[in-house]
Amino acid sequence: MIPGDGVGPEVIEQGLKVLAQASELFGFSYATTNFPFGSEHYLATGELLPDGQLDRFRSFDAILLGAIGDPRLPAGLVERGVIAAIRFGLDLYINLRPIKLYAERLCPIKGKTPADVDMVVVRENTEDLYTGMGGYFKRGTPDEVVIANQIFTRKGCERAVRYAFALAQARGKQKKLTLVDKANAIEVQSLWRRTVEEVARDYPDVAFDFAYIDAACMWMVKNPEGFDVIVTPNLFGDILTDLGAMVQGGMGIAASGNIHPGQVSLFEPIHGSAPKYKGRDVVSPIAAIAAVGMMLEYLGEKPAAQAIEAAIASLVSSERIPSLDASSGLGTAQIGAMVCDELARERMPAASAKRTT
Ligand code: IPM
Ligand code: MG
Repeated sequence: MIPGDGVGPEVIEQGLKVLAQASELFGFSYATTNFPFGSEHYLATGELLPDGQLDRFRSFDAILLGAIGDPRLPAGLVERGVIAAIRFGLDLYINLRPIKLYAERLCPIKGKTPADVDMVVVRENTEDLYTGMGGYFKRGTPDEVVIANQIFTRKGCERAVRYAFALAQARGKQKKLTLVDKANAIEVQSLWRRTVEEVARDYPDVAFDFAYIDAACMWMVKNPEGFDVIVTPNLFGDILTDLGAMVQGGMGIAASGNIHPGQVSLFEPIHGSAPKYKGRDVVSPIAAIAAVGMMLEYLGEKPAAQAIEAAIASLVSSERIPSLDASSGLGTAQIGAMVCDELARERMPAASAKRTT
């Protein structure tokens, strides 16, 4: 556990409550260890991630992270020093971001229903402009020059593309993969297109198409039903999934997995630390709870993972959770308790029927 900054600890607390409830109902056991990394820890100790920490993480099955970021520190310092450092250090090359709408009223796009919004973004997670390769010349002078290199490797593209094809096949929905790139303006991104065309031969039952990132943003709003699985480089994936989060109902529900298949992987809500809401018991813990669901799925506890998703879907679609923003009228802890109750109701309908008669 890395509860982190801002609202991170309070949403993670609810995620843990749901994890405990799921373990009881579905009969698996687990152990957790807390790590203090984040802004508070940095301010107190000057440490981002200690030496040897990546190796320590490798002895775990999964990492659950709340949020990292604090306005008192220079932009991106802890984000790069903790989240990005773990993503790169553990080679978590897939950032998996499902975009699924559970209730029509939560979608800001008129007329779109849950049938129209059900896709997964596979965001490459270890390359692109995020590697930090580049630098400054004559920094701070009127002649300043900065260079940031957009790095793609064949290996990095191919493993993301393969994962995405396999996912489109396994989901069995539209069996369609869309590569989102900007190969018209950034010529080297043809590497992505060529990789998709080659890997596609191994997945003859999965259709594929290409969309430019600008057009994909337009389609995401105009015709989200056209997307099934999207594969995209790191930076475009970052941007597109915030847009996707709004289409599925807001940052209060969007979760993600930072995955290296077969190795320790990290699960987190995609929202940030939202410092202004810290400690106020108003933010939705649903994104963190959904991240716990994704983690359980990854760890092979599929029935528990499905039950958590079903509980979220039922609470949201029945309007017991009216919205996923800070003005839902429900407290963070209250929502956590509602998910636990709903899980129990799903799992033991007889017992809860007795209660209501
Ligand atoms: C995300 C975040 C991070 C990213 C930031 C905090 C570095 O926006 O997980 O989407 O850009 O990847
Ligand atoms: Mg982001």
